[in-house]
Amino acid sequence: MKKSALVSIALVALAAWVGYTYGTRSGSHAPPTAAGSTTDTLASAKHTAGSAAALLKPGVSTGQVIVVKPGESIQDAVRKAQPGDTVQVMPGNYSETVYIDKDNIALVGVIHGGDWPTLDGQGKRNDAVLYSGNGIRVENLKITNYKGNAIMGQAGNNFVVRHNWIVNSGVYGIFPEFAQNGLIEYNTLTGIEDAAIYVGMSDNIHVAHNEVHGNVAGIESENSRHVIIEHNLAYDNAGGILTFITPGLPIKTAFDVIIRNNFVVANNHKNFGAPGSIVSGVPSGTGIIVMAADDVIIENNVIRDNKNAGIIVADHKSFANITPDPESDPSPDRVQVLPNLFADNGYEPIKDIQALMLAGLTRQGPDLVAVGSGSGSCVTNRDAIKWLGVSTWTACQRTSTSDVVTYLLDQPAPPRVLSAQDRGKLVYSSVCAGCHAYNVRMIGPPTQILQAMYAGNPQGIADYIAKPVRKREDFPPMPSQAHLSPDLRLAVAQYMLTVK
Ligand code: HEC
Repeated sequence: MKKSALVSIALVALAAWVGYTYGTRSGSHAPPTAAGSTTDTLASAKHTAGSAAALLKPGVSTGQVIVVKPGESIQDAVRKAQPGDTVQVMPGNYSETVYIDKDNIALVGVIHGGDWPTLDGQGKRNDAVLYSGNGIRVENLKITNYKGNAIMGQAGNNFVVRHNWIVNSGVYGIFPEFAQNGLIEYNTLTGIEDAAIYVGMSDNIHVAHNEVHGNVAGIESENSRHVIIEHNLAYDNAGGILTFITPGLPIKTAFDVIIRNNFVVANNHKNFGAPGSIVSGVPSGTGIIVMAADDVIIENNVIRDNKNAGIIVADHKSFANITPDPESDPSPDRVQVLPNLFADNGYEPIKDIQALMLAGLTRQGPDLVAVGSGSGSCVTNRDAIKWLGVSTWTACQRTSTSDVVTYLLDQPAPPRVLSAQDRGKLVYSSVCAGCHAYNVRMIGPPTQILQAMYAGNPQGIADYIAKPVRKREDFPPMPSQAHLSPDLRLAVAQYMLTVK
């Protein structure tokens, strides 16, 4: 393989900017150190992009600091907090689920002498931090042993999730869903059964300087638009970085995603995703996957030692466990693969790729492989890499993405204003739809089946979700939704019965 001078120079610059090399961080289980191991979180905010700092303004200048010590409850402090306040969590152990349903609250840990404030779900709690307010900041927490989500946002705009250390904590690590304008940076995540960082049905999100390893999927942007994923280190996952349109969700599109300046290395972990889930279909050994998403640009990443393939671009039909959605375009269109540094990918490809190799009369596994439908895609200097299925791709006109610094907004996105009915719909889309798709099995059974079971009986659903009981051997238990008010539970149930 020929390395162009451009790529080599860019690589040096990249290593310098990321601030560490793969060699020194590989295999380390140390907590993140790149930013802010102090209480001085405002200072650490300032060295991020200007617009990112602007996000924080509403929350930081006015408020009081409410200190939580071991033995006390974080939720009590959140209950007392007013918009603008900071809940400051001292080092020590906590075991609870924290719900933040008001705006402009900062939940910030204090890390002292290597001691972190640690939320431990003890293998029995579902979620560590759930927020639905706008302008929420979650920072400096260690989260471990939860079963569902470590940090999940439900329709909270203008969020910052920074410098958290998430270990063996359930299905999703950092999971903003239905959000606009948010920053996810300097987090370390490992041992997550689905996506460690999971941007779901969101817009204007920036994912930078995170380290994800030992997960099924490292970073996934799903049914989201205007997302930048840069300067992250993704290694030893089954799949490193994914950008998908998942069918059956209320938001149907994914486009304008830039994946640049990341290390995507040796993502050869066994896939331990829940059987039947979409990520369980991700072939182990894949660096980057684009499934059905449009206008994705992949630039200046170091993509190496991924045994199946460096980059896979696929349509819905080519992917396991996908039932197409007539409202989603199944084809990845206008994908641009600009210069990246590829090395030693595809040395042990899955059968489907071996078949393509056979047909293409090559014995080399691919750096880049495209399967299924799609149009308008391009690749720079195709002959410098090992490729399959991109013979019709043109040479890219664009040379870099430096014209796009960030998709974060200059001003905070306005909060959503909602009627009771809308709130039901929103909770459905942001909470329930994370596990229940219309006609596809996800974490939970398909909504279509539940509609038949509960036709004309929304109260039955409202009661079940307040206190779910185990019904199906081949599904995990459903987490209680008792934190939703009875009215809201009924509104969600009513909405669930109308979903098509
Ligand atoms: C973390 C994933 C998850 C979330 C979030 C979730 N569910 Fe579930 N749900 C499940 C699973 C798994 C089951 C199957 C549980 C079983 O059969 O033991 C289930 C089962 C159900 C059932 C079937 C009950 C029955 O009698 O068989 C209903 C109704 C339901 N969920 C409604 C909802 C609603 C409404 C929401 C949103 C407020 C929701 N779920 C959120 C995972 C989830």
